[in-house]
Amino acid sequence: MPDTELVFTLIGPGWTARLLVEEPPPAEPKRVGFAVPAVDDDPAPLHVDADVVFTTARNLQVEPRGWPRWHVKIYRCATQGDADNLLRFLIRQTEFVQRANRALGAGNPMRPPWGVVPVQILRGDWLSQAVGGAYPTQLGEEVREMKRTAARFPSWYAPDMLAAARTLLAVSPYVDEIEWVDRYHEDPVTEHLRRFTGLAAGLDAMHRNDIAHCDIKPANVCRVTVADDSTAYVLIDVDAAIRVTPPPRFPRFTPTYSYGNLRRFAAEARHHDRKVPAGVLYAQDRFGFALVLLSALGGYHWVRGSLLYEGSGPPGRNRNADSHHLAVRELESRFPGERWERLRAVLGEAFSQQIEDPEWPTAGWVARLIAAAETPGEPGPHTDRGQEYTEDVRQVWRRAREHTQTGVELVEDGYRAAVAQAQIVARRTARRIMTTVALAITGITVVLAFGAVVLGK
Ligand SMILES: Nc1ncnc2c1ncn2[C@@H]1O[C@H](COP(=O)(O)OP(=O)(O)O)[C@@H](O)[C@H]1O
Ligand SMILES: [Mg+2]
Repeated sequence: MPDTELVFTLIGPGWTARLLVEEPPPAEPKRVGFAVPAVDDDPAPLHVDADVVFTTARNLQVEPRGWPRWHVKIYRCATQGDADNLLRFLIRQTEFVQRANRALGAGNPMRPPWGVVPVQILRGDWLSQAVGGAYPTQLGEEVREMKRTAARFPSWYAPDMLAAARTLLAVSPYVDEIEWVDRYHEDPVTEHLRRFTGLAAGLDAMHRNDIAHCDIKPANVCRVTVADDSTAYVLIDVDAAIRVTPPPRFPRFTPTYSYGNLRRFAAEARHHDRKVPAGVLYAQDRFGFALVLLSALGGYHWVRGSLLYEGSGPPGRNRNADSHHLAVRELESRFPGERWERLRAVLGEAFSQQIEDPEWPTAGWVARLIAAAETPGEPGPHTDRGQEYTEDVRQVWRRAREHTQTGVELVEDGYRAAVAQAQIVARRTARRIMTTVALAITGITVVLAFGAVVLGK
């Protein structure tokens, strides 16, 4: 007897999707753990494990505005209690997406732009989710009807009703994966910058709505081609998204793409009862976003191998990306020359503590990157020699104070910042007036050393 097919229909205002869920390709399920708040925002979360498999669904009723292919994430839980808790958690996560997308002006599962791809969560037995005849929906618009056609389930899906009830589905419009490649040519691929505009606005909208995504990395950014054939980047995967206030204690994140101060918080949280402030969560998103953008501009492997390379040392302090001056140095060697000076300066901001400022706008940063990429950084004909280095000196001061906690570190950081800046200046001016800079460095180092002694730390 042929196996039953798993077909269900989502009916929204003005659109219908009749989805045939395809049997997942053979693969080991991925075991994923979730910290689910017991009661709303209870500080002690419940731990739920689920086995996750991925598949796709074909839309059998593609309307002119329809979305032909859908992505389906299937979660299998060990007990009904776990499934109920996970359902509550996943629905809350997708409500975050909905709030952010709505703030962007988008509200339809068939029509981008989205900051984050909309997701509908379904109970695997298609029961008990209806409230007063209407289905709660997370797709951005009300789903009026959601029904399954066959009476049985396919054998690959669930052996019986009880197993189906312990299964959850996250269904979303299919977007294209990006092939993150390395780039060997020198110039940044600035054509990609515009594709980040909507994503940046979506991120700002999320933050204004008190939500942080927390897991922005290349694997969680996809591409969507909109009606006029232009490509935009969008976020997926809201499993780690979190409400920013009250400050949470248990943010989830991928260590490789995480912001230095968040890693430090997480490391210290093991010993102290520390809550993560909003600014650090915003910065986590902006830092991840910057690394994704740089992966598109300069290459995935360059970002991994240079900015994110893990040296020895404490978490959150040992990578080039954890220090503004070291990150700037990497940018300088990846995109050398005056042509990219302005672009480098704006890119560098993403590695300073500025990004912890709640008001730092990601969309504004992308707009400034676009402007900077279009403006070659040649010095104007009337540049005054003395003023030419004012900004360098200011940079050294700023970097020296960044992340510095003790007097000794202040001197060390100041020295490192001065050396890094001197190298930048050397390359820029081809050793034109190194004496001025050397004097400035000596002067600052002396002042810092003096300050440290006086501070007595
Ligand atoms: N809407 C979607 N369209 C296309 N592919 C998707 C979609 N959502 C997820 N994926 C793919 O599935 C992978 C895992 O999904 P994700 O939601 O990121 O789960 P995980 O928590 O396992 O990272 C993604 O890296 C991406 O390749
Ligand atoms: Mg993911």
